Amino acid sequence: MANIVLVGAQWGDEGKGRITDLLSSKVGMVVRFQGGDNAGHTVIFNGQEFKLHLIPSGILYPDVVCVIGNGVVINPATLISEIENLEKKGIDTENLRISSNCHIIMPYHIALDGASEKRLGSSKIGTTKKGIGPVYSDKASRVGIRVCDLLDAELFWQKLNDVLEVKNAILSKVYGAETFDAKEIFEKYNEYARIIKKYVVESTFLINKALDEKKNILFEGAQGTLLDIDHGTYPFVTSSSTIAGGVFAGAGIGPGRVNEVIGITKSYCTRVGEGVFPTEELGKIGEFIRVKGHEYGTTTGRARRCGWFDCVIIKYAGMINNLSSIAITKLDVLSGIEKIKICTSYKVGDNIYENVTPNCFTLEKSQPQYIEVNGWDEDITNILEFEKLPYNARKYINTIEELTKIPVSMISVGPDRNQIIIKDENLKKNFF
Ligand code: GDP
Ligand code: IMO
Ligand code: MG
Repeated sequence: MANIVLVGAQWGDEGKGRITDLLSSKVGMVVRFQGGDNAGHTVIFNGQEFKLHLIPSGILYPDVVCVIGNGVVINPATLISEIENLEKKGIDTENLRISSNCHIIMPYHIALDGASEKRLGSSKIGTTKKGIGPVYSDKASRVGIRVCDLLDAELFWQKLNDVLEVKNAILSKVYGAETFDAKEIFEKYNEYARIIKKYVVESTFLINKALDEKKNILFEGAQGTLLDIDHGTYPFVTSSSTIAGGVFAGAGIGPGRVNEVIGITKSYCTRVGEGVFPTEELGKIGEFIRVKGHEYGTTTGRARRCGWFDCVIIKYAGMINNLSSIAITKLDVLSGIEKIKICTSYKVGDNIYENVTPNCFTLEKSQPQYIEVNGWDEDITNILEFEKLPYNARKYINTIEELTKIPVSMISVGPDRNQIIIKDENLKKNFF
């Protein structure tokens, strides 16, 4: 194995958690580099389900060091309950490390996220209301509170009072919302600091040392390429760099350190929250996929919007992330659909585009152009070799490879760790 970045190639929830878990058995370290508890990564192993929001999905392996890198924003209450839940299930969290530079989500960030969404009304982003936009705004405005600030009670008290004066004024005067008491927050967060202190490290030293020692590292992305703050469907995006480039700032490593970037994509497409989604299916097919694929958010429980696989999006993700390969998840969900559509291009006015950047001029007005391929009826959830898949399922995967010009390295046929087909020959050697 090498140093691999895993990123979402669509709008999130592609199955990054389960692929991270799979590859974690072959690495020494797993690093999250952006996002916060807006992420919900599901891992199913031995019939047990783990829903991870902040802790890297390598945590189920006792020897893997799991790092929450500096680019991640932390809600300490979520983190502590995640640690407790893992421990309850018998998972050791001794190997968890938290960067001292991570920014902390404060109660006023969550309140501001909710108040802003309410004010926007029908133009809302559809955020997870976890305070992600407000905390990254404070980071950029240089008024954020970091893990290292939290560990210094005197400094924390001073910073909190400074920033809270402004936040309370905004909450009450702009939004007519409740304000916060500094002392109450201070006491609660001091207690959080006491609990998380033992995990805190200078993560950049730790990660670069592991690279120097040739320990393989997996960088686990959250969200997806189309939710990237710079390269996604702005403003309907999250507030961090979700793309492979985010690794370098969010973990503190140089570009030459990464050997491979794998894009995770579903065999169809979903999106949760507002914003453009060209291949969305509002009718029966969308409902079929939602029910069969259990397409309800891991973090918020919201119904995900469902539609066909979109090669235009994947080619864009291929370019932005320099994808070495894609891993296609949830192929089993398509079993039973007579004709499966694949979007090959967009029609805007009289023009056909096979490659677009997701700006509002093209995506909003685009008519997806499809090819149709024959489906299959067989239950494929126990198939572990590509050659044993039904002919039409293989044809579907091969067509995606031809259209996107990106090789498919893995295909998952069920949510369990073992329900995986490794298609890439080199990767296969690592596993069998
Ligand atoms: P992530 O945010 O990218 O890690 O993805 P989520 O965990 O939010 O959503 C993926 C969902 O699909 C989870 O409920 C997984 O258990 C489930 N899942 C992953 N791979 C497969 C698969 O191959 N087949 C089926 N049926 N479910 C899968
Ligand atoms: P994982 O890592 C899917 C979406 C929200 C909303 C937009 C902005 O599990 O794939 P935010 O709360 O980040 O300000 O919301 O981004 N979103 C996700 N959608 N999967 C996620 O994470 C997401 N994290 C945020 O629904 O549209
Ligand atoms: Mg998710």
